[in-house]
Amino acid sequence: MEIKGKIILITGASSGIGHATAVALSKLNNKLIITARRAELLEQVAEEVRANGSTCDTFVGDATDEAHAEEVVSAIVERYGCVDLAILNVGIGPPSNTLTATAETIKFCMRTNYDSMINFYCPLMRQMKTQDTHCMITHMNSQASFFGIPMQGDYTATKGAARLFLETARMELKHFGIKHIAIQTIHPGFVDTLACKDDGIPEMGIISEEKSADYVLKGLRSEVRENIFPASTGWGTRLGRFIPNGILTKILLGSAAKEY
Ligand SMILES: NC(=O)c1ccc[n+]([C@@H]2O[C@H](COP(=O)([O-])OP(=O)(O)OC[C@H]3O[C@@H](n4cnc5c(N)ncnc54)[C@H](OP(=O)(O)O)[C@@H]3O)[C@@H](O)[C@H]2O)c1
Repeated sequence: MEIKGKIILITGASSGIGHATAVALSKLNNKLIITARRAELLEQVAEEVRANGSTCDTFVGDATDEAHAEEVVSAIVERYGCVDLAILNVGIGPPSNTLTATAETIKFCMRTNYDSMINFYCPLMRQMKTQDTHCMITHMNSQASFFGIPMQGDYTATKGAARLFLETARMELKHFGIKHIAIQTIHPGFVDTLACKDDGIPEMGIISEEKSADYVLKGLRSEVRENIFPASTGWGTRLGRFIPNGILTKILLGSAAKEY
């Protein structure tokens, strides 16, 4: 996709990868619509975007609220007539432990990472089907979506569910001959955001927020189905999908905490 002059929604853009991606896209004369709960931070991001020559609308709200997502998509369509690109980025990644987790913390992660994606996906898909120009829904997934990872059980489940849902959506678009809508999942390795700090998980091959935004833009341009980056952990992840589970378990447990 040529990402100049586009109408682009980014959810969860008040910090981290969403913020860095908004700033990178703002240098390409786009019309950005950004969302998050922290109003003050979101407005600061909007100011940065405008200073770089793009327009920016902000919507403060909780992405786990279906009505908020419906309202955001309706407002974009009312103002601009369409959505060219959506980057569904909202997510949390708290360390967890399947032996001690509570139902509430597990479901909270699912609500934040999976339900919030679905809340936006549904009105976006409904809208995009009516459009006649090329458009794309992308989801900020993770390399953790391809297999279970010790101390990340809640998180891997949410990202795995999202990946499979969108993989199916892609198949169905093809099956029903809908060619103008693309679906992409984005799979960063470790990115140096505040959310990632002090979570006790080893951060192999960690990259900066700005570098992650470069990779995101590269993937948007190429429209690769799964944008897996950086190469240092990406190749391990790709290989991990094919090696026997016993070997994979041994590798993944190598750096896990010894006590729970
Ligand atoms: N950092 C990494 O190493 C890494 C690696 C792979 C994938 N990812 C994924 O990248 C995405 C961004 O993570 P990040 O590391 O950049 O963390 P971050 O800085 O904490 O960003 C998360 C964003 O999501 C928003 N958000 C969270 N819960 C929300 C809710 N209920 N409603 C609305 N907005 C909400 C936050 O805004 P408010 O708090 O203001 O609402 C914030 O803007 C996540 O999906 C994460 O899983 C991160």
